[in-house]
Amino acid sequence: MSQTLTIRTAAFNGEPAALTVIYAREDQAPTGAAAAVWASTGLDWAASAAAGAFRGRPGQSLDIIASGGARVLVLGSGRPAADGPLNAWTDRGGSLLARIAATRASLVSVVIDEAEATPQAIGELVAGLRLRHYRFDRYKSPRPEDGPPSLTITLKLADPAAANAAIADRGATVDGTLLARDLVNEPANVLGPVEFAARAASLADLGVSVEILEPEALEKLGMGSLLCVAQGSDRPARLVVMQWRGGNPDDAPLAFVGKGVVFDTGGISIKPAGSMEDMKGDMGGAAAVTGLMLALATRKAPVNVVGVIGLVENMPSGSAVRPGDIVKAMSGTTIEVINTDAEGRLVLADALWYTQDRFKPKFMINLATLTGAIVVALGHEHAGLFSNNDELATRLLAAGLSANEKLWRMPLSPAYDKLIESKFADIRNSVGRPAGSITAAQFLQRFVNDTPWAHLDIAGTAFGAANTEVNTSWAPGFGVALLDRLVRDFYQG
Ligand code: BES
Ligand code: MN
Ligand code: ZN
Repeated sequence: MSQTLTIRTAAFNGEPAALTVIYAREDQAPTGAAAAVWASTGLDWAASAAAGAFRGRPGQSLDIIASGGARVLVLGSGRPAADGPLNAWTDRGGSLLARIAATRASLVSVVIDEAEATPQAIGELVAGLRLRHYRFDRYKSPRPEDGPPSLTITLKLADPAAANAAIADRGATVDGTLLARDLVNEPANVLGPVEFAARAASLADLGVSVEILEPEALEKLGMGSLLCVAQGSDRPARLVVMQWRGGNPDDAPLAFVGKGVVFDTGGISIKPAGSMEDMKGDMGGAAAVTGLMLALATRKAPVNVVGVIGLVENMPSGSAVRPGDIVKAMSGTTIEVINTDAEGRLVLADALWYTQDRFKPKFMINLATLTGAIVVALGHEHAGLFSNNDELATRLLAAGLSANEKLWRMPLSPAYDKLIESKFADIRNSVGRPAGSITAAQFLQRFVNDTPWAHLDIAGTAFGAANTEVNTSWAPGFGVALLDRLVRDFYQG
């Protein structure tokens, strides 16, 4: 079971802790509130520094058991520059959590007395602590290395009240990211379309209105494209519509659409066995949309938003869709299924058309673990961004840099669009290997009408990237912080 983490704030004076963390600047004895903590160790700064080769450089630390038994951990400050990016504070929180966890203490105070630590910076620091602390260990028996059952960190600050508001506000976004991580990490035997829909339904507690459409309703709407992906599975499809109405009732909503393939075997065009277990994460787009809705509702964002997720399982069976089959999407477009493993675009085709048709949104952004080709192109560093709208694309790129969930823009054009024409139907769902991510995006664009739209191909970023300062989980919850940042910076009154 996971260690529980509690984070509190308090003024500088006050109760001592089993472990107190202070920061020291390079070649400078601790100052201000940290100086008193240092004095309590009874040690001489110059002598200790000389003996331990500790100079307060970023990454350096000094772990002291004072004669009275109190423990003081001095960290080289590594403090972000006053004019640097806010997300440097998130990273700092992440590395702080790692240092604290390594001490195995369960009651910890951290003195933060730098002038640069604005309430917003503290909000990021706490976000970093929580994001780094996350582990998906619900299926692991307890191990000694898990540390004490609870960890309480008290941040000692000049102005705790001001920080608390920022911590709560940023914390809503963290809640969303952690939900997305949980959903992606969960195995597909536990999280099928029905179970995923039930988790989305619980957002109703936060004031999100949630509708769950079952196959009969999807059939009536004409969603032959989405439904053909689910037809090989014993588990029925779901389309979930989440609405948060925090804005002016007359304002068109922002729309987010997610690919939710709870497991992608490839279907009849079955995938090879190697790493197929990763395909439990093929619902990373839907997880990000659900996490985003949770974040926006929790922080009561003053904006109207709809989240639509298409939930299906792609399985081979006697009832599965075949290569060569022709299906009809809700838009009326006919699709030749060339490869049943190009299923994400079939799901999104109907989810996108439905969303623009029903909600007439200001814009529509979809997230999908859509193509292996985007991993070849961009690795795990950037998600692919495709858009029919330069303003939306520019804003997304900026939000990605701020949130440290980076995007790289890829092209769309009539020449690429031509490649998806089919011999027998209007379009086909798979072309050749060249430009595989772009032809997938061209396919999606056929279903957005004239809505300003962006497609984020998160196949390389939704799971399996290297650990970072703020994430050691297989699933980082990519997309929640990015889109929350987009909404905050560009679409809130
Ligand atoms: N879910 C996969 C894409 C994927 C691959 C996501 C690796 C994450 C990691 C998608 O449904 C798929 O199978 N795409 C095919 C498309 C092809 C058949 C046109 C691919 O990328 O190979
Ligand atoms: Mn596939
Ligand atoms: Zn897939």
